[in-house]
This record gives sequence, C-alpha cells and structure tokens, in this order.
Amino acid sequence: MTRIRLDDAAAPVAKVEAALSGRLLARYPLDALPVVRKSLRRDAALFWSQRAWSEYAALPILSQVLLRSVGEAAPLTESQAAAGILQDEALHTRLSRDVAEAFGGYEAQVPPHFAYDPAALSQPSELGLAGWLVAGGAVGETLSRALISARLKYTEPPQLKAIVTRTLKDENVHVAFTWAALERAVKPLRKQEKRRLVEIAAPTVEAAYRSLCTDGLSGAALKSERRLRQRLADARLGCCPPDVETDVVNEALQRFIVPGLQRVGLPL
Ligand SMILES: [Fe+2]
Ligand SMILES: [Fe+2]
Repeated sequence: MTRIRLDDAAAPVAKVEAALSGRLLARYPLDALPVVRKSLRRDAALFWSQRAWSEYAALPILSQVLLRSVGEAAPLTESQAAAGILQDEALHTRLSRDVAEAFGGYEAQVPPHFAYDPAALSQPSELGLAGWLVAGGAVGETLSRALISARLKYTEPPQLKAIVTRTLKDENVHVAFTWAALERAVKPLRKQEKRRLVEIAAPTVEAAYRSLCTDGLSGAALKSERRLRQRLADARLGCCPPDVETDVVNEALQRFIVPGLQRVGLPL
C-alpha cells in the first residue's frame, strides 16, 4: 500500500524554503472558496489529493532527469531548466495539497487502483537521460499539460482558476523543455537504442490510462472515480467529466506525442 505524506517541515528548514520559494511564489489565498455540501467537499479533497500525488511524482522523475543530465554531460542549460522545473513541481504539489486541505483534508492514502509511487520512481535507475525524457517528459508532461488545459474550462472559483492557470503556464514551459532536450539527447543514439526508447514509452502510456484518466480502470474503482470526476466537473471545481479526460488523453497521444516521438527520430 502506498502512502504519500505531504507534511510541512519545522523551522529552520521551513524558513529557508520560504525564503527560496518566496522569490517565485505569488500568493494563492484559499480562504474564501465557495461553500459546498459535505459529500462534494470530500470528493473535491480527494480529487485535489490525486492532483498532489501526480505533481509529487514529477519530483523524482525530474530529479532523475537532472541526475542523468549531469551524468551524461548534457548542456548546463538543460540541468538548470530541470532544476527550475523541479521547483515548479514542488510548488504545484503544495498548491494542490493546500486546495485538498481547504476542502476538508489532504488524503495521504493512495488507493491500490492508482499507479502513483514516487518512492519507487526515486530509486537508482538503469534508464538514461533519453529514457527519462521519453517516459516522464514527452509522455507524462505532455499528457498532464493537455489535461490541465482542458480542466481550466471546468474551473470556476477564481482562487482555483488562478492555481490552474499558473500550473498551465508552468507546464507549457515544461513541455517545451522536454521536447527540445529529447531531440538533442536522441540524435546521437543508435537504431537499437531508439527502438528501446519506444518500448519505454509503452508502460507510461498504460499507467496514464489508470491515473490521468479513468479509461484503464475497471469494476468498482472505475465506477467511483468516474462518479467523483463527474460530480466535480458539474460543480466546476477543477476536473473534467471522465469522458472528456479520456478524449484529451487520446487526442494528445495521437496529435502530439506519437508524431513528436517520430519527429525526433523514434521508430514508431
Ligand atoms: Fe506540474
Ligand atoms: Fe510539469
């Protein structure tokens, strides 16, 4: 069972972190969120906890990208960009967790039908820079950007809209970085290595259908996750209806990810 605790640090670490992030962080007050009935509050807290798990999982992925960038002597600009993106993902995690808290409580317990496992992603890995950029970046960042863009239309309270808009702005930059870095990293690879990168992408796509949208779920998990998403979409609290989510994932794969991977030279 995966538990993802997102506790705040005690001083003096909190003080240092606040000074660092103060430079980047605008204020996102959540004290005047609309009053909604209790069961909807619980659903909203759960959905925004899922958002926090998703953003938190980007931390080990970007850390692996940063480690491999240094290990494979990528241009400093790329390492610097990865470090900046890491800061963004930590901020997105915090904002999502804070929204969950504002709706009644962040949920640390990841249900077994979801694939979020940041601790596993943080383990030492055989995968090279191009591999992490394909799995975490080209697939992961592009899909999550597409979903956040679609969710904006289903987000009404101005406090939430500000957070989703900020996140989308950041994710646009992450996607641009990913594809540029991937193109550079893939160029010198041999045919066989490029084929291997295609194999790496497949499980990430599969996991996306069981976390970023609900299409890969079944049984009771499918029913409850679809219901939660529909209720949140109806209340305009930051989530698309489940079928819209699936359409967005399919479209991003067909229109951007597959052609993008082909463009950088992967044999798809
Ligand atoms: Fe993010
Ligand atoms: Fe991102």
